[in-house]
Amino acid sequence: PTVTFSDDNSKVTAVLPTGESVEVLLYGATVISWKDDQGDEKLWLSEGAKLDGSKAVRGGIPLVFPVFGTAPDHAQTGKLPQHGFARTSRWEFLGKSTSESAEGKEAADLSVKLDFGLSTGSVDEKTKELWAYAFNLIYSVTLNRTSLTTALVVTNDDDKPFECQVLLHTYFKIKDITAVEVTGLEGASYIDKVDNASVKTESSANLTITGETDRVYTPTGGPQAPVTIKENGKTRYSVVRDNLNDVVVWNPWIEKAKSMGDFAPKEGYKNMICVEAGSVRGWQTLEPGDAFEGAQTITLG
Ligand code: BG6
Repeated sequence: PTVTFSDDNSKVTAVLPTGESVEVLLYGATVISWKDDQGDEKLWLSEGAKLDGSKAVRGGIPLVFPVFGTAPDHAQTGKLPQHGFARTSRWEFLGKSTSESAEGKEAADLSVKLDFGLSTGSVDEKTKELWAYAFNLIYSVTLNRTSLTTALVVTNDDDKPFECQVLLHTYFKIKDITAVEVTGLEGASYIDKVDNASVKTESSANLTITGETDRVYTPTGGPQAPVTIKENGKTRYSVVRDNLNDVVVWNPWIEKAKSMGDFAPKEGYKNMICVEAGSVRGWQTLEPGDAFEGAQTITLG
């Protein structure tokens, strides 16, 4: 695999010998592109997304930490902006690795892992004022021929406990939202954020999107049971989680898309669906020295 930096050092690109590729911005460690061996893009990225570090990226896979949305009543994270600071901080590239040594030379061509780090020392002063805990984050993006794994490890480096939430906010690219069904959610309890945060139970085995949708599901099968995105009855993406109990399903639909300055084109809501793996219903408490690890693997087709 080849791993290259953009001229301005803002972006890392990894390409497998067979042509699959992934691009990660150091800003937010945001995955902004994932292509298969045909060069077909799998992630939706707004044409209006800011990639210059002035605003969280609208599209790709932004990383949500340490708070999902805002939590004005939560003492520790109450002052933080929506979705925290990981997606708006500049991360460090820690290196690449392949599986060559473990599995022979051929295995090296089949995958590449990129590691990124963010810790107390590298966040800006404003963030430290809003959230004053010593922490360390390691984010790994592993590109395989037909899958992408993104994994986050949060470590509490402080001498007091802290509470956090994490979410991998994936924007999937699709052809037509009216042909999409999401499976794996039947029977799950969910918070309906477009209906006063009321708690409901999903009755459908094949969820369709017909208007603004913003729901926090806790699937009954646990993280290893796949949540799939189908289009015209065919599985496009399958998401398996590790240690992340919740799945947010989000589509802004017409009016909300119009209201977001960086959402373009405005019809773009037809070509995206966010299915986001996370731990966001309640809080993960990390004692000093403890770590929390969560991951998702997205498999194609
Ligand atoms: C989703 C939330 O995860 O992210 C939505 O559930 C939110 O409520 C969406 O609108 C986008 O958030 P942002 O901060 O990127 O505009």
